[in-house]
Amino acid sequence: MNNKEVVKKKVFVRTFGCQMNDRDSEAITGLFRQNGYTLTDDPKTADVILVNTCSVREHAEEREISFLGSLKKISREGRRMKDEGREKLIPHPSSLIPRVIGLIGCMAKARGQEIAKQMPHVNLICSPASEDRILEYVEKIQKDGGRIIDLEDRQRDEEFYQAPFNIDANHAQVVISTGCSNHCTYCIVPSVRGELRLRKPEDIVDEVKRNMDLGITRITLLGQNVNDYCFHPSNVNFIDLLKMAADINEIEEVDFMTSHPKNTSSELFNFMAGSHKIKKQLHLPIQSGSDKILKAMNRGYRREQYLKLAADYRHIVEGILGTDIIIGFPGESERDFLDTVDIVKTVGFNYAYIFMYSPRPGTAAAKLADDVPLAEKKRRHAELLALQKKISKGNITKY
Ligand code: 5AD
Ligand code: SF4
Repeated sequence: MNNKEVVKKKVFVRTFGCQMNDRDSEAITGLFRQNGYTLTDDPKTADVILVNTCSVREHAEEREISFLGSLKKISREGRRMKDEGREKLIPHPSSLIPRVIGLIGCMAKARGQEIAKQMPHVNLICSPASEDRILEYVEKIQKDGGRIIDLEDRQRDEEFYQAPFNIDANHAQVVISTGCSNHCTYCIVPSVRGELRLRKPEDIVDEVKRNMDLGITRITLLGQNVNDYCFHPSNVNFIDLLKMAADINEIEEVDFMTSHPKNTSSELFNFMAGSHKIKKQLHLPIQSGSDKILKAMNRGYRREQYLKLAADYRHIVEGILGTDIIIGFPGESERDFLDTVDIVKTVGFNYAYIFMYSPRPGTAAAKLADDVPLAEKKRRHAELLALQKKISKGNITKY
């Protein structure tokens, strides 16, 4: 290879967590590709390594920390020469472009400062809200070395969503809102992703149209709680957004994630039933079947209300119904657990993601004693999982 030939820089992106993180990683990958990078699935060959993390449960964080730790050895090996075209092991440091190892996403915000101290090889730490600045930060580190930490909570620039890149060539996820202002007591999301912020309806529709121009016909609208899309000054609410997306001729299927039971309405169900383009699928996290625990979680509904909502959905939409359940929340007695078992039987979810509670630093629930012993959490988890497996006839996926 000719020394003068420009070798494209490579970016490696590893994503943990939810669909929102998947979409953020796509947007970031799009930005890098637009700026001449190619993707690699081998971190050893990458100029930029980004680890997009989740903080929702302790278990997720443990895996992420261990992955970040494993990058330490790579950080010292064969970095790219400044005169592009050659890669040599350990030349003089001044002729090297620093490799960027970035911790981004929810755990960056939750534990960035602590990880910065423990892992000197991590030279970029960026909160979810500042991910639109990643490329700029990477370029600065490549030029000047050093480390950048940005844990700001702000609205991302609209440009963040502009570069096309979708893992699935026929399906795109479109973010309608970021953050969350609901404050369920167990949940770290509001403190890591910031308060609820809505993208403009016209920007959302433009993104759907850009996808359509790429030949994409299936769209998922994403928000921590899509129903909270109701405070926009334009008066456009979530159902309007669904309608705007479904009205685009070439779009064949629209679905959405996630719906909070406290403000999911039969108006939404009627719209779902009436539009052949809306996928007949609803993810409606119940979290618990016990009124006492629902109250302690600050969920804003009671079990009877959830049951009514689920019955309305089944009746009006006749679609798939899935849920999230947390077992072992502080104060959960056997009686409370049996209330959850009972509601799972009554509703007959098509699928359920079942989690053992873990306290998240800074949340209201973290101040309560985590008083359900681990062995008991495991028993309840296994029992509920077995029940759900029977209900969904083995058709259960893991989160
Ligand atoms: N412990 C266990 N599970 C949790 N979830 C959110 N926070 C916690 C926590 N502290 C679960 C909820 C949520 C899903 C994304 O993760 O069920 O709906
Ligand atoms: Fe997604 Fe919540 Fe995990 Fe953040 S903490 S990646 S919002 S599931």
